[in-house]
Amino acid sequence: MSSWGNDSVTLTPDAIPQHGMIADALSWASSVLADSGIDEARLDAELLLAYALGVRRGELALRDEMAADELSRFVQLIQRRRQREPVPYIIGTQEFMGLTFRVTPDVLIPRPETERLVEATVEILRSPESRNGLRNGQNARRLADIGTGSGAIAISLARLLPDVQVYATDISEAALAVARENAERLGVRERVAFARGNCLQPLRQWGLQGQLQAMVSNPPYIPHSDVDSLPPEVSRYEPRIAWDGGADGLAFYRCLAAEAAEFLCPDGFIACEVGIHQSRAVCELFRRAGFARQEVIKDYGGIERVIIARGLGNEDVETIALCHCPIPRFPNAPHSRRPQP
Ligand SMILES: C[S@@+](CC[C@H](N)C(=O)[O-])C[C@H]1O[C@@H](n2cnc3c(N)ncnc32)[C@H](O)[C@@H]1O
Repeated sequence: MSSWGNDSVTLTPDAIPQHGMIADALSWASSVLADSGIDEARLDAELLLAYALGVRRGELALRDEMAADELSRFVQLIQRRRQREPVPYIIGTQEFMGLTFRVTPDVLIPRPETERLVEATVEILRSPESRNGLRNGQNARRLADIGTGSGAIAISLARLLPDVQVYATDISEAALAVARENAERLGVRERVAFARGNCLQPLRQWGLQGQLQAMVSNPPYIPHSDVDSLPPEVSRYEPRIAWDGGADGLAFYRCLAAEAAEFLCPDGFIACEVGIHQSRAVCELFRRAGFARQEVIKDYGGIERVIIARGLGNEDVETIALCHCPIPRFPNAPHSRRPQP
């Protein structure tokens, strides 16, 4: 490990490239980040260099040199990344479902595995049975996103389903400010309503009892016992309220299971993301809350990631079906771990 490999050591001027050859700066930055324990050091270095130069990552190959002020900006960005600040917070954006979302430290960085939750929800809502989901007097199908953060799920659903009105909630006003801005920038502000409140309480204020065709959530689900094993990118930088799921990680699911039935219409469903090894416990919570059918959908890494619970008021024998069949990807969703500026 080099002298600047330790997080607490400041980069010394002699360790920093003194001239502006792009290839040298990239190789310096990759080795600094790798020495700091960052897995995808080269990718991060390229993303940050592209950001420093104000170009797309794919355009880096078109340039050989950079100016002194660009080099100095790049060195500062690398300094931040080696302190384990996530790239999306440094550059201020993250790709999700093929859309570019603004992110700040007030919101969780949307993850590629959450795209599976959006895909599964859209798949159901596009099915012929689900299309006649309009309640009396409604002119749009109504969905809710609980714990919206940056608005990634709510806004993606509104973009993919032109006939829906989405109600998005969060306990954090700072997160909602980011989500509203994203909805505005991505052109769906009129079809996504936002309100602050604990768990499902804002739905009551909106008078949505019995009105929702789907309730979607990616809740905080990290159990306290796992907190010590979180990477510094999460534990130091992402808002604790976005990932802390209580003693066993299931606190938020208990609230969803207890209250969702009040807001869903009889053929409505709840779709939520779960953490590793949580699918059985969450299915059981929904079964006990009166949802006769639960399905478990795996993410592209093979982890049971999404639960769909439905069949409210249905007395049929419950099924816990494990769906192995992949849901088709949407063409505009690249599933990239990182933004590709
Ligand atoms: C895991 S993050 C998900 C953010 C976003 N939906 C996504 O998938 O990228 C969970 C979100 O739930 C919010 N949250 C935490 N506790 C809450 C509560 N009691 N009521 C409502 N929202 C809450 C957090 O502020 C955070 O934005």
